[in-house]
Amino acid sequence: MRLFEETDFAGGTLKNRFVRASVWMAGADEKGHLTQELLDHYKMLATGGAGLILTGYAYISDEEQPNPGMLGIYDDSFIEEYRTLTDAVHREGAKIALQIVFGGSQSHHPDAGSMNILAPSSIENRVTGLMPKEATRDDIKRIVRLFGDAAYRAREAGFDGVQIHGAHGYFLSSFLTPFYNKREDEYNGDIHDRGRILYEVYEEVRSRVGADFPIIYKINWSDFMDTGEGLEFNDALQVFRELDRRGVDLFEVSAVNESSGKGMAPARKGIHSREKESYFREATAKIAKSVDAPVILMGGNRSVDVMEEILNNTDIEYFSLGRPLLCETDLVNKWEQNSEYKPKCISCNQCWTTTPNSCILNR
Ligand SMILES: Cc1cc2nc3c(=O)[nH]c(=O)nc-3n(C[C@H](O)[C@H](O)[C@H](O)COP(=O)(O)O)c2cc1C
Repeated sequence: MRLFEETDFAGGTLKNRFVRASVWMAGADEKGHLTQELLDHYKMLATGGAGLILTGYAYISDEEQPNPGMLGIYDDSFIEEYRTLTDAVHREGAKIALQIVFGGSQSHHPDAGSMNILAPSSIENRVTGLMPKEATRDDIKRIVRLFGDAAYRAREAGFDGVQIHGAHGYFLSSFLTPFYNKREDEYNGDIHDRGRILYEVYEEVRSRVGADFPIIYKINWSDFMDTGEGLEFNDALQVFRELDRRGVDLFEVSAVNESSGKGMAPARKGIHSREKESYFREATAKIAKSVDAPVILMGGNRSVDVMEEILNNTDIEYFSLGRPLLCETDLVNKWEQNSEYKPKCISCNQCWTTTPNSCILNR
C-alpha cells in the first residue's frame, strides 16, 4: 500500500505517510517544560508507527500563551531537555517537528488577563472576551524575530523541522481574518497585505534555520465565519501559493476560527460513517493541486482504504491524525498489520475536557 511506503522529505525520508497532527496535551509544567508523562507519550507515539510527529503547540514568548500546560520554546533552557525527546523519537525511526505559536486574543489561559495580549487590531475576541492591544509595527518585528529564535532553538534541539501555526484564529491567522484585522498599514488591505506577516515569519525562520531544515506551515483554507468576516478559500489559496513560491517544505491544511461559533470544529465531532471521514479532502485536494510542496490532509482520517483512495486520486501526499493517536498511540502499527482495523476513537471530543488531554475510553 502506498500509505506505508517511504517518502523523500526535505533531504531525508519519512518511513510512511502518516503524521501525528499537533495535539496540545495540557501536560507540560507551569513554565512549559517537559514532564515525564509527556515524554512517555511521545515515545509511545514514536514506537506506535507514525512517520512524522508534530508536537502540540509550543509558545515562543513567556509574555503570553493561549492555553495552560503547553510546551515552551521561549528561551535556550529548552534546548537540552528537548534533545532527550528528539533522541528518543529518532531511536524508534520516527521524525519529530515542533509546532510554534504566538497566541494573541484567542487565549483560554486562566491568567490571560495579566498577559501581553496582542492582535492585529484592538477588537474584543468573540470567544474569550479578551480586549487585545493593537500590535505596533515594532511588536510585529519582535514577534517575527521570536518565531525565528524559536525555530533556531528547535533545530539546535534536534527536531527534524518546525511547524508554524498559522491557523485556527491565533495571532498569525487573525491577520488573515477581516473581522479581526482592521489595520490601516501595510498589514491589511488585499490578501497579500493580510498575509504579509505570515510571509515575514517564513523568511525569518528560513534565515535562522538554513535551506535544508524543513518548514511546515499549518493554515486554514477557510475560517468558517459569516461571509466577509473570515478568511475564505480563494484568498487562502493565494496565501498557500505565495508561501509555496517562497519555499515552504510541507503544508498542513486546516480550517475554522473559534470565533466562527463552530467551536473546536477543526476536530469535527461524530465521524461515524465513511462519508464523514477525511472531511477537508475537497478543499485540501484543490490546494495540493495548486502548490509544489507536499500537502497533509488533516481532519477525520479514520480508514486506510479511504486515505489510500485519496492518495491515489488526488495530489495529497500525507495524512495527519490527532484524536485517534491520542486514544491509540500504536494505531499506525495496527493498520500496518490489518488495514481494516477500526480505530477506537469515536470523535466525541471529550479529550478537550480532560487534564491532561487524554482519551476517556482508556480510563
Ligand atoms: C485535545 C486537542 C488538542 C489540539 N491541539 C492542537 C494544537 O496544539 N495545534 C494544532 O494545530 N491543532 C491542535 N488540535 C487540532 C488537531 O491537530 C487536528 O487538527 C484535529 O484534531 C482534527 O484531526 P483528527 O480528526 O485526526 O483529530 C488539537 C485537537 C485536539 C483534539
